[in-house]
Amino acid sequence: MTKADEDAAERSPRRAATEAAGGYAADTIPDKATRARSFGAVADTYDRGRPGWPAEAIEWLLGPEPLDVLELGAGTGKLTAALLAAGHRVTALEPSAGMREVLAARVGDAPDATVIDGRAEQIPLDDAGVDAVVVGSAFHWFDREPTLEEIGRVLRPPGLFGLLGNRYDTSVDWQRRLRKVTGAGMIYRGNHWPKQAELRERFAEVEDRTFAHRMEVDPAMLRDYLASLSWVATMPPAERDTHLAAVDEFWANEPDLKGRTSATLAWRTPVRRARVLRIR
Ligand SMILES: C[S@@+](CC[C@H](N)C(=O)[O-])C[C@H]1O[C@@H](n2cnc3c(N)ncnc32)[C@H](O)[C@@H]1O
Repeated sequence: MTKADEDAAERSPRRAATEAAGGYAADTIPDKATRARSFGAVADTYDRGRPGWPAEAIEWLLGPEPLDVLELGAGTGKLTAALLAAGHRVTALEPSAGMREVLAARVGDAPDATVIDGRAEQIPLDDAGVDAVVVGSAFHWFDREPTLEEIGRVLRPPGLFGLLGNRYDTSVDWQRRLRKVTGAGMIYRGNHWPKQAELRERFAEVEDRTFAHRMEVDPAMLRDYLASLSWVATMPPAERDTHLAAVDEFWANEPDLKGRTSATLAWRTPVRRARVLRIR
């Protein structure tokens, strides 16, 4: 064990075991299917704590003209709302009833929004019915091959597929210090998205760009953000309480936060855009 590992072990034995296993400890973290289902139980927390999406990222991804867009893994509708605000007609697919309830409350009345139950691997839509398929912070939950096949099937040529992520920005000093307290997320993050080369087998143009954005948070929202992460949502309750209490303690003692009622949380949004379906 290195010195860093020992320090981590002192702070949290579970985290140390996880970090030692390269960020993924199969014996301490519930399986992927369990974590994928964790969201419904924390839908309100998720909605309060998670960031939204920058308008510039959506404009770069989809362009200025209104499109028929299918969003997979729409959750509570944070990205759905941003797509609608940009003028697109959106079908938001989400399998969790708990998440769908918050999603429908948010966008259900919008004339250009349709909320549907379903899974990315078996999309309940006709062939060639949408101009674009987008996914925000959800692709890692899907079975990749059947999902990519389904995306190719429902896209109407020329066809556009977009992946968006929200990365916690560790270039901000206090955010980096908080990450040391909470851990980086015990889930192995590699291979999250299909590589550019993999997408080029299906699309003629593939490009990446990253956008910065910010979110005002108070201590409760910061706690909600952490509580909504699947590996925290699936912790045993006592362990979760201890984990989240450390966040409150951090706010009370961190020089950049203490005594303040709110702070700016910085995010980075990577976007991968794949355009023009290859004829197969
Ligand atoms: C991190 S949330 C993403 C939320 C959302 N896109 C946003 O903008 O905040 C991931 C979502 O993917 C959904 N999900 C998990 N497995 C799925 C699957 N196989 N097909 C479609 N959605 C799935 C979960 O229920 C969850 O709501």
